[in-house]
Parts: sequence; C-alpha cells; structure tokens
Amino acid sequence: MNPKKLFAILSSSLILTGCSNDDSSAGIDTPAPAGSVTYNKDVKSIIDNNCIVCHAAVHQNGAPISLVTYSQVKDAVLKRSLIIRISLENGNNVLMPKGGPRLPQQTIDIVKQWEKDGLFEK
Ligand code: HEC
Repeated sequence: MNPKKLFAILSSSLILTGCSNDDSSAGIDTPAPAGSVTYNKDVKSIIDNNCIVCHAAVHQNGAPISLVTYSQVKDAVLKRSLIIRISLENGNNVLMPKGGPRLPQQTIDIVKQWEKDGLFEK
C-alpha cells in the first residue's frame, strides 16, 4: 500500500476513536478532576438535610419530583432550575426550600460551584 494512503486510513481511524470518547458521558462514571465539588462529597448532604422531607422517593407535601438520587438532582439542575429556585430571596413564594428560610449563601454557592465543575457524581 502506498504510504500516503496508509496515513490517510490511520488518521481517519484516530478521528473515529477520538469521537467515541464523548464528553457527554462525563459525570456518569468518570471521576471529577481533583478539587471539584461532587455530588457524593458535597451536594448529597445538602439535599438530604434540606429538601428530602418533601422531595423524597415518594414525594410529599405537593413536591412534584424526587431528589433522592444523583441523576434526579442533576436533572433538576439541568431541566428544573434547581439553582435558580434556591437562589431566590426570602419571601419569594417559589423559593426552595419551600416556605424558607433560604439556605445559607455558602451552601447555595457549593451547589452553584457543582454546576460550574460539571455536575460530577464522584
Ligand atoms: C416543604 C416542602 C418542600 C421542601 C423542604 C423543598 N421543596 Fe422543592 N418543591 C416543593 C413543592 C410543593 C414544589 C412544587 C411547587 C413549586 O414549584 O413551587 C417544589 C418544587 C421544586 C422544584 C421545581 C420542580 C419542577 O418540576 O418544576 C425544584 C427544582 C425544587 N422544588 C427543589 C428543591 C430543593 C433543591 C430543595 C431543598 C433546598 C427543596 N426543593 C425543598 C416542596 C418542597
């Protein structure tokens, strides 16, 4: 085979393998970069302490979703404005936790940083 043709085949297979390593799988099994906020280490306890009373596996008190698993919480950040809901001012009737009080700013910032860091599980 002529070397130019061989090179073309080799480089196109490199491109193909490059694509199969898709970034959208990040956060499922890939570990987070060192120092990142993660669900297991930082976020789960915040949700357990402040949200689970209503957002349990069987949701209570009119809450429409469960916030028990990593994928439920991640989905709520991506599709249900979880971060906006916890960032509203005291007295706003859609502030979460429902009925307030607003979480300490430091706690809200951890959840915001989790989103910035890529919503990793661990
Ligand atoms: C006292 C019960 C209660 C607590 C505690 C609570 N929620 Fe809720 N949550 C609700 C109810 C009821 C709704 C539906 C009404 C609404 O959207 O305001 C809701 C709605 C939501 C929604 C929107 C869901 C959708 O489908 O649009 C999100 C996101 C959410 N809560 C997140 C949280 C987070 C995060 C916490 C903890 C910081 C929390 N909630 C604590 C009762 C609660």
